[in-house]
Amino acid sequence: MSPTSIQNWPVHILHGAVEPDVIAHIDDLAAAAMEQDGNPPLSEQTLIDLRSGDADAPSLLTLTVFAVQDHADPATGTDLAGVAVVVGSGPEAVLELVVHPNYRDQGVGALLASKLLDVRGSEGVHAWSHGNHEAAAELATQFGYVPVRELWRMRLSRPKNTADSAPVTPGPLPDGVRIRTFVPGTDEAAWLKANGAAFAHHPEQGSMRLSDLHARMAEDWFDPQGFLLAVRGDGSSEELLGFHWTKVHAASEGHPAVGEVYVVGVTPQAQGMGLGKALTVAGITHLQSLGLHAVMLYVDGDNSAAVALYKKLGFTRWDTDVMYAPNPK
Ligand SMILES: CC(C)(COP(=O)(O)OP(=O)(O)OC[C@H]1O[C@@H](n2cnc3c(N)ncnc32)[C@H](O)[C@@H]1OP(=O)(O)O)[C@@H](O)C(=O)NCCC(=O)NCCS
Repeated sequence: MSPTSIQNWPVHILHGAVEPDVIAHIDDLAAAAMEQDGNPPLSEQTLIDLRSGDADAPSLLTLTVFAVQDHADPATGTDLAGVAVVVGSGPEAVLELVVHPNYRDQGVGALLASKLLDVRGSEGVHAWSHGNHEAAAELATQFGYVPVRELWRMRLSRPKNTADSAPVTPGPLPDGVRIRTFVPGTDEAAWLKANGAAFAHHPEQGSMRLSDLHARMAEDWFDPQGFLLAVRGDGSSEELLGFHWTKVHAASEGHPAVGEVYVVGVTPQAQGMGLGKALTVAGITHLQSLGLHAVMLYVDGDNSAAVALYKKLGFTRWDTDVMYAPNPK
């Protein structure tokens, strides 16, 4: 297969919501890449935006390269070789690009990146490399991009049936504060407010809208029992000070189920009182009560407060996602 033939493969440029049949191809490609690389190549929010078709969703640009007939799956006549998704507009737009493992090292990634340049002109994007794949680093260099942000994945492993398998020690709660579970239909607005305050400086988490929350609550994994809120007061005077939303990744194809510290946040005025620790420990204890012996989380490498908290609880760094942006020089 010569590189010239790949240059002739059709690149489809889609604006806004994506048709379900294309999403099915993207899901298959993402699953194959996950199996090969051990990292999800598209973020959860990108998948939600692709599916939403919501007029309110941030602007969405999707480029797909389908392998030409000769190389494609004979059963369907099409085979998605690569996809690039840009969420948002202007210089804050974020790109995720993934090439199917069967079509790697043949120029598909460079083809998508150069078509993207044609569409967006000189306006750059920020680009995530999940797992900081070697080929992504090379592609970034080729297009004059440099690393600007690190997202760490950290992991806490507790061996089964040993003295070390005891849950981490719960932290004390400040006076008058209790932890209860999220009540769907009641707690959404208060949670969005607390989340917006805790993550005011976080580009993705801080911008969550009610539709994003509803999309997550509609997922199979959503379980209010694993969504913990730290509150002070009762009834209409109740104040939400912090939260720990946990997630369970079900076992699949030989991989055991894994728990996730999905999001922990404490409102700025309640930080530094031990709430972050108490909530994190309570969530881990919940995950361990479900029989989960491995717990993972994502955290920005420069979030010193959160990294300090997680290290104190025994989490260690396991992998890194890197964000690239055009070199300003
Ligand atoms: C990270 C966060 C949850 C910590 O919550 P908190 O209630 O302020 O933290 P705690 O008071 O429970 O402190 C827990 C531990 O972390 C350490 N810690 C807290 N803030 C710290 C800081 N700024 N720098 C270094 N260590 C810090 C404390 O020393 C404490 O350790 P100790 O138990 O040995 O005393 C909180 O700062 C927050 O909500 N930040 C914004 C949202 C966010 O970044 N969430 C994490 C996303 S992955």
